Amino acid sequence: MRRVFIEEISKYEGQEILIRGWVMGRRSKGKIHFLTLRDGTGFLQATVFKGELPDEEFEQADHLPQEAALEVSGQVKADSRAPGGYELLVRSLKVVSLPRKEYPITPKEHGVDFLMDHRHLYLRHRRPWAVLRIRDELERAIHDFFGERGFVRMDAPILTPNAVEGTTDLFEVDLFDGEKAYLSQSGQLYAEAGAMAFGKVYTFGPTFRAERSKTRRHLLEFWMIEPEVAFMTHEENMQLQEELVAYLVGRVLEEKKRELEILERDTTVLQTTAQGNYPRIHYTQAVEMVNKIAQERPELELAPMQWGDDFGAPHEAALTGQFDRPIFVEKYPAAVKAFYMEPDPEDPRLVLNADLLAPEGVGEIIGGSQRIHDPELLLQKIREHGLPEEVFDWYMDLRLFGTVPHSGFGIGLERTVRWICGIEHIREAIPFPRMYTRMRP
Ligand code: 4AD
Ligand code: MG
Repeated sequence: MRRVFIEEISKYEGQEILIRGWVMGRRSKGKIHFLTLRDGTGFLQATVFKGELPDEEFEQADHLPQEAALEVSGQVKADSRAPGGYELLVRSLKVVSLPRKEYPITPKEHGVDFLMDHRHLYLRHRRPWAVLRIRDELERAIHDFFGERGFVRMDAPILTPNAVEGTTDLFEVDLFDGEKAYLSQSGQLYAEAGAMAFGKVYTFGPTFRAERSKTRRHLLEFWMIEPEVAFMTHEENMQLQEELVAYLVGRVLEEKKRELEILERDTTVLQTTAQGNYPRIHYTQAVEMVNKIAQERPELELAPMQWGDDFGAPHEAALTGQFDRPIFVEKYPAAVKAFYMEPDPEDPRLVLNADLLAPEGVGEIIGGSQRIHDPELLLQKIREHGLPEEVFDWYMDLRLFGTVPHSGFGIGLERTVRWICGIEHIREAIPFPRMYTRMRP
């Protein structure tokens, strides 16, 4: 008998097949037992009629606990009432293993903390299943997008000698003989070396920020994708980001319909996002917009902004609430951004950067900029930011030998998953979240 995965069951209508999986739920109507099975690829109703299989197997079907592992064979039948459109009429049922104690996650409501404490088991359930399959699709879509455009994937180190994005949220690691290293906040500086060697590169790896905060959008450990391109300008950088995000969202809409349904995701904004055309808003204009919203909608209790302030999460939420797709906010004051950003030739107080803010109140998912390529200016900025010159010697070399304008960005995978899936908290966007308040399981 052919072993079939649930996701391909529609190809086997009328045929006898074998499914290997686990019991998720069970109900009974005397001479019929209904089992909900999962096999990792999907969910299936198995209908067990008395007389269609040996009596002891029929009896056993009425006592199978949640997470009993089974091999079930039978005939595939189309049934519009069954979830997924097909059911299995069971002819044989073999138990592979029974749980050794009561499975903790029952069909009743559980609190989020309980579920996250049992994340190693909770992964088996529909919601994490849907979210993490969308994450998987995004990871592959990212490789496809850059691969098709001739980018070289270049992995950046995780142990690094210096900070990239400011020194306040660095994780320090003890090396040998009192020497220290830091867990990478960003692969960008290495990607810049790569851009000068390969023209266009991207990194895809874990990055770390020691965020002593409980927010819905910060992890201690998250995955970032950082493209970097030689000769690319600020404008072209935004164009590349727009194409990437439109592509990623389009891919999920196309390939992950069932998962979006399980998550009950309203896809209206995703549809417009897949069309591109993201508004570009100047920092100064964005501050004015925030202040206007703060005035018109006092119930939001939005703190008014001064020119020069960075946006907080509530500001970004208010701003993005005005649009039906992501927006770029560009040209921030240099003072609130990292040392390596190229000044705006039209106003040296500003830099040639952009943050891409996702709609529906989500806010920043990408940070990017054109990079300083002039060696004297870069050295000046390193000094102004109080960074140790000696550890940036190799980074300075990139400007001493064949320096050219270049740009890049970093897209946070979990922020993107969180937004596309429409989930409240970033902890659900990664298999095992690492947060200020959570290191287990
Ligand atoms: O804006 P950030 O700090 O930019 C950089 O690291 C640049 N070096 C990127 C580059 O230009 N190559 O971070 C980039 C993105 C953010 O927009 C966000 O999506 C994500 O990384 N991110 C986080 N995601 C989860 N938890 C955190 N603590 C994050 N910090 C940043
Ligand atoms: Mg940022």
